[in-house]
Amino acid sequence: MLAGKRILLIIGGGIAAFKSLELIRRLREQGATVTPVLTRAAEEFVTPLSASALAAEKVYRDLFDLTDEAEMGHIELSRAADLIVVAPATADLMARMAGGLANDLATTLLLATDKPVLIAPAMNVRMWEHPATQRNLATLLGDGIAIIGPNEGDMACGEYGPGRMAEPDEIVGAVSGALAQGPLAGRHVLVTSGPTHEPIDPVRYIANRSSGAQGTAIARALAARGAHVTFVTGPADVPPPAGVDVIRVATAAEMLEAVQQALPADCAVFAAAVADWRVSTASASKIKKKKGALPVLEFAENPDILAHVAGMKRGRPALVVGFAAETDDVAANATAKRLRKGCDWIVANDVSPETGIMGGDENAVTLITPDGSDDWPRMSKDQVANRLAGLIAEALG
Ligand code: C5P
Repeated sequence: MLAGKRILLIIGGGIAAFKSLELIRRLREQGATVTPVLTRAAEEFVTPLSASALAAEKVYRDLFDLTDEAEMGHIELSRAADLIVVAPATADLMARMAGGLANDLATTLLLATDKPVLIAPAMNVRMWEHPATQRNLATLLGDGIAIIGPNEGDMACGEYGPGRMAEPDEIVGAVSGALAQGPLAGRHVLVTSGPTHEPIDPVRYIANRSSGAQGTAIARALAARGAHVTFVTGPADVPPPAGVDVIRVATAAEMLEAVQQALPADCAVFAAAVADWRVSTASASKIKKKKGALPVLEFAENPDILAHVAGMKRGRPALVVGFAAETDDVAANATAKRLRKGCDWIVANDVSPETGIMGGDENAVTLITPDGSDDWPRMSKDQVANRLAGLIAEALG
């Protein structure tokens, strides 16, 4: 996936630095050449020798190492790379990057580069949430720097929350996204995914069995072809892919709002299993259980997001793709649905329980286009995603 790519990996001084050694291995497995740069603080956590041994490359450490300057100046070093990855990006490194400082080799390289930069922040949750860090983050994003993570979870310091560095595999995914020069480079694709949760009261909701697996695979496949993907997801079972802009929503109304915010797009893929109805009598406080009295729920129709976008008079994406989860007469129902919703393509599948598709790893779909219907053999959701992404790339030319 990364054959021939040169990655300059700046390892910052944080406990997550140990994961950066694994990252070196994973990047090399994908065919990339990795040149490690350690900050002085990083050397407290990992040794230059282990980074060098895993990378099978010289490790750079000091700005004033004259031998290195004779061999390769810092300007050249920063530009010989296809991508600079900062992992872990500590609060201090982010602050220095945002401020444009160049007081060590790492920050000098970052200031001198003309190549894309991807950061994987890692720090204590309070440090991450501190207004200063959030201000620096906003500056860095404004400068066009890509970010992966941080993830939420238990921290080495015993606290819980956002601040854990993304896992090596996730960083590898983001690296390939950042480097993607595929057929969809420069295109914006919107993908909806997952179920929606429609509240009954503050603690109860109505949901469906969608895992979000197919939508996630599609977003990943589009990003791998170079698309800028906005991924609007309901509460799914699977984590969102790396290298896409994630917008999390709960209800259909929130999903519509997020979709409208994310437009314009060249293509929109509606893989979400949006609830058809919401509880119009949703209670602001928890409904009490009373002996012998059953609550009565009333419903209202949810907005049809796909039909709304497909019917836009102005700013409609050039290609609008819907899904049809059916249990009977799949192709006939989906063909009718394509016309009713006004979308260009429908990916139809049979979600009868015996197919094991809903929540499973495989899918058997029929693609409905204005030219007719095409039955695809049963294959993994990743394969469906790749085939669909390939067709989308062809259609967008
Ligand atoms: O009408 P039905 O739910 O079968 O249509 C499925 C397609 O419509 C999917 O692409 C789904 O994402 C989309 N949809 C939507 N908003 C709704 C209902 C469905 O975008 N409220």
